[in-house]
Amino acid sequence: MHGRRARTYGGRVAITPIDLADDALMSRMYAVVSAVRVFERPHFVSPPEASAIGDLRHVDEGESTHLWGIWEGDALVGVITAWLPLSDNTDTVWMELDVHPGHRRRGHGTRAIETIVGFARANDRTRIVTEAHYPVDRADDHPYRLFAEHNGFRLGNTEMIRRLTLPVDPRLLARLGDGARAAYQGRYRVEAFTEVPRALWPSLCECMNRVGTDAPTGEIDWEPETLTPERYGGYMELDRATGRVRLTAVAIDEASGEVVAFSELALPPTITRAQQWGTLVRADHRGHRLGMAVKVANLVSLQELYPERADVTTGNANDNEWMVSINEQLGFRPLELCPAFYRTLDPV
Ligand SMILES: CC(C)(COP(=O)(O)OP(=O)(O)OC[C@H]1O[C@@H](n2cnc3c(N)ncnc32)[C@H](O)[C@@H]1OP(=O)(O)O)[C@@H](O)C(=O)NCCC(=O)NCCS
Repeated sequence: MHGRRARTYGGRVAITPIDLADDALMSRMYAVVSAVRVFERPHFVSPPEASAIGDLRHVDEGESTHLWGIWEGDALVGVITAWLPLSDNTDTVWMELDVHPGHRRRGHGTRAIETIVGFARANDRTRIVTEAHYPVDRADDHPYRLFAEHNGFRLGNTEMIRRLTLPVDPRLLARLGDGARAAYQGRYRVEAFTEVPRALWPSLCECMNRVGTDAPTGEIDWEPETLTPERYGGYMELDRATGRVRLTAVAIDEASGEVVAFSELALPPTITRAQQWGTLVRADHRGHRLGMAVKVANLVSLQELYPERADVTTGNANDNEWMVSINEQLGFRPLELCPAFYRTLDPV
């Protein structure tokens, strides 16, 4: 048998919800997702199983998490993960779709999209957003892009993932830190924390809520998020429970005592990679090199406290020139693309 039929699995196929409380099934789910994420990406490091599952099980009033297994008979060959934002961006389903490399081109991905479209409609959502990762030189014709477009998605934004090999020369950090300080001194102070003091949580959350709206995201617009100090506290507990360290550098406006800029690094347990999460300077406090200042402060703290970390990864849209220029100065270099695809559904 040749061609398409040879690629088709002849047995029973099914897509069924995964009970997040089912330890054995969650462990199989993790194995499939990890195999997909590392496929053709030798640089990728999966977070450890317990922390990945802990994150998925986290209960947050601001979003709910949903999983489905894609089955060939008794073999789990793929996973759909979906998040429903509940207090902002309530038009959207955020989705990840992973089909095991040994079971592709059998229609699983397409059936998974039908499942997620049904789920979106059942929850009154009109937009599905998802991301992929592939090499920079395959921007136009990578199979994941072809798959997405075949299934009614549009490329809405492309981020470049960059990697910084550690340690950064302390002299470079000192030079960049000093240059920034000269621009903000007297008006702001910059501090790096492993745990941000509670008094700063409200203004920190306000900054965090602007990341999606203020960073360029191409055709995919986001409403401000609605993270509250209470929900932030829940994430602090999640970090403790999963063994993740979160380093947060902030710039505080001396006049108001409020956080007006922040940058977060996440350090998953057991692996040696750190991930850059959000960085933002509030619009009314830009132009004082606070972006560089908080990034440098966090890297200094990372290198002092966690010298075992080998590298940091970060992602930015190409038109985010300000952030890209800071990252290039720090030594981040291109690693791969992270395109975002979206599909809009007519309201029913
Ligand atoms: C993208 C992915 C989900 C596709 O899963 P799949 O089960 O192979 O998808 P399907 O069999 O339903 O493919 C549907 C169509 O997509 C296109 N497509 C999928 N893979 C392709 C490839 N390697 N080359 C060209 N076209 C491809 C084809 O049009 C295909 O139809 P055809 O087989 O009749 O030609 C899978 O490759 C995957 O898990 N990738 C890694 C994770 C990821 O990037 N997910 C997000 C993608 S938006």
